[in-house]
Amino acid sequence: MLEKINQLITEISAFSAQIPEEIEQFRIKHLSKKGTIALLFEDFKNVPVEQKKEIGKALNELKTVATAKVNELKEQLCDQDTGKSGVDLTLPGDVLKTGTRHPLAIVRNEILSIFDKLGFTVSEGPEIEDDWHNFSALNFPEEHPARDMQDTFFIEKHPDIVLHTHTSSVQVRDMETHELPIRLVTPGRVFRNEAISARAHCIFHQIEALYIDENVSFADLKQTLTYFAKELFGADTQIRLRPSYFPFTEPSAEMDVSCTLCHGKGCNVCKGTGWLEILGCGMVDPNVLELNGIDKEKYTGFALGMGIERITMLKYGIKDLRLFFENDLRFLKQFTTAI
Ligand code: DAH
Repeated sequence: MLEKINQLITEISAFSAQIPEEIEQFRIKHLSKKGTIALLFEDFKNVPVEQKKEIGKALNELKTVATAKVNELKEQLCDQDTGKSGVDLTLPGDVLKTGTRHPLAIVRNEILSIFDKLGFTVSEGPEIEDDWHNFSALNFPEEHPARDMQDTFFIEKHPDIVLHTHTSSVQVRDMETHELPIRLVTPGRVFRNEAISARAHCIFHQIEALYIDENVSFADLKQTLTYFAKELFGADTQIRLRPSYFPFTEPSAEMDVSCTLCHGKGCNVCKGTGWLEILGCGMVDPNVLELNGIDKEKYTGFALGMGIERITMLKYGIKDLRLFFENDLRFLKQFTTAI
């Protein structure tokens, strides 16, 4: 019996396990009520008295070794789970914080992708411009109030250089550099000397579209605007054109869309009118074509320009324009999108 006990001690000491089930099987085999050790204790009754002391000691040792083994194996497996460093690898991972797009970028991309479907490609121009590109080539008369120091940021030592007040200045660059026909959209940041408030800022964003080809008509402009408004604000959106004046378009119009909130019934967003002003547009003034070296007898075109802040405010129900520039994460985190 002593021999059997010693043999078991050796066997048990050498035992190792990879998974919890193996430890459990091992425990049942040796330490359960019907296990090898319990059986040996049973047999112990029959051991002659003179051997009881020695065998009893060996039996107790066997039980201690087996119990210690089970505990040791359990601890080992637990260590493997948590790694030696004590890090529990089974815990869920840290969520990687990705940024979100700025709401103005989301709406800009949306607008550009609508025009992309109509075949308009993106062009960009400089923010610092000369008087020619920002005003003169766009048919602004010398005395036009928009040239006034009140509205325009001039460079102090160079009164001919301005921060462009609208993305229309890029139309002029496009006409200089592109072969006809031209079908371009221009997103950009523009600057005007305005007091900052909930409704105005000295920096804001615009998107301009320019289309020049043979036989471009006002009907093309109207159809483009209708498609654009329905894509941007929903299929049930109506548009309305009101006559207006811009130096670089003739005729000129302002486009309203049916109120995105009340759908034309009248609410405080549309001030009870049911309509929201969205953009300025018109047929490119023949003077502008001529000033930019394009044959005004052969070509016609349309142009349009809109403020991205205003459209974003309407789309998301944002009430204060300053929020776009404050970089407050509580505001920015609310806008998540793939584009
Ligand atoms: N440039 C004008 C503005 O900043 C917007 C505009 C109106 C652009 C009519 C156009 C247009 O291209 O045809 O207020």
